[in-house]
Amino acid sequence: MVQEDQKSKLLIVDDIPSNIQILAEAMRNDYQIVFATTGQEAIKIANADQSPDLILLDIMLPDIDGYAVCHQLKNNHRTREIPVIFITAKSDETDETKGFACGGVDYIIKPFSIPIVKARVQTHIELKKKRDMLENMTVRLEQLNQMKNKFLGIAAHDLRSPLGSIRGFSRLLIDELSGKLSEDHKEFLDIVYKQSKHMLALVNDLLDVAVIESGKLDLRIQKDSLVDMVQNRIRLFQHKFNEKQIHISLHSDTIPEIGFDRTRMAQVMDNLLSNAIKFSPPNSKIIVKILDIDGKIQVDVIDQGHGIPIEHQPHIFGTFQKFRNKQSDGEKSTGLGLSIVKRIIEAHKGSIHVMSEKGKGTTMSLILPVEKVCIEDQPIIVQ
Ligand SMILES: Nc1ncnc2c1ncn2[C@@H]1O[C@H](COP(=O)(O)OP(=O)(O)OP(=O)(O)O)[C@@H](O)[C@H]1O
Ligand SMILES: [Mg+2]
Repeated sequence: MVQEDQKSKLLIVDDIPSNIQILAEAMRNDYQIVFATTGQEAIKIANADQSPDLILLDIMLPDIDGYAVCHQLKNNHRTREIPVIFITAKSDETDETKGFACGGVDYIIKPFSIPIVKARVQTHIELKKKRDMLENMTVRLEQLNQMKNKFLGIAAHDLRSPLGSIRGFSRLLIDELSGKLSEDHKEFLDIVYKQSKHMLALVNDLLDVAVIESGKLDLRIQKDSLVDMVQNRIRLFQHKFNEKQIHISLHSDTIPEIGFDRTRMAQVMDNLLSNAIKFSPPNSKIIVKILDIDGKIQVDVIDQGHGIPIEHQPHIFGTFQKFRNKQSDGEKSTGLGLSIVKRIIEAHKGSIHVMSEKGKGTTMSLILPVEKVCIEDQPIIVQ
């Protein structure tokens, strides 16, 4: 027999005491029984601190009928989740349909068989327990995720300035001591510089993920030229294109100025360009197109690289998603870039799409709405 304090609570609602008695007798060993003989009384018990885990509800009651009771319970957040099984002499199909329509989980017609009532009650109590467990786990996971983001944010933030110093001073030493260092020492210093640069980029990405996931991505939207921004980013990447002997070209329609966050969109372009370079072989081509299509702006970054296998494509926008797509020049990769890109684009009410064929190349397309978001040239902060 189940211990009294571990028993689930069953509320039986019927205006005929002998009906309550029959059901209570049958259920007593397995459930804690409470009962009500009117609709209002049932609602009051359901709203009490220790609310029932399931309600067996008659339809014909002296005050409000069972449908109305069920309706009220389902419209109240405190009682919404309590499963209601109608148990009634009303046997028409329309009555039964109405019972389900107002939120009942089951419908038992009198005269009933005790073993069947028991089985149905048990099924719905088990289901409710599982639902409660899932809900508690979701709340807990949400809390843990927030804690993780906070921790990530603090750790990344505190690592940023010492890493910046290491990067800056190692660069200074490389520049000022060139010629005075042995080849070995030069190589060591170069490793310190490159590693600190990579770690700083990673820390910045982690900080972005923490900010984005906590829903605090502020955009400073200002009317600006997207074409100018893209040209600028391409210019900044020129040495990387040269290093790999990649030919870069930009084709642009006449594009009106639109409202966007220049820093964040530059970050988007940097990731798309660095991916295109990273995953392309030397001596290949990268084309950037800026198109005005049906009043929307489309930015395509097209490469002739390794491509992304079809099975990986749905996952590339997730965090830490990098695949065994070996970079052609041993470049660094953490798998955070595209998840940040997607969130920035979505915050601009746009979307990002990938088209890729293994071995042939990849096209990443950004689609941005041309909204007159910035009428008076004042920055608009979008949260
Ligand atoms: N142009 C591309 N060609 C081939 N594969 C790509 C391309 N762009 C993205 N990918 C694949 O998608 C993965 C995720 O890209 P993402 O930009 O998020 O991460 P990453 O470039 O590996 O690292 P990070 O940008 O954080 O430094 C990459 O690791 C790669 O496998
Ligand atoms: Mg990337």
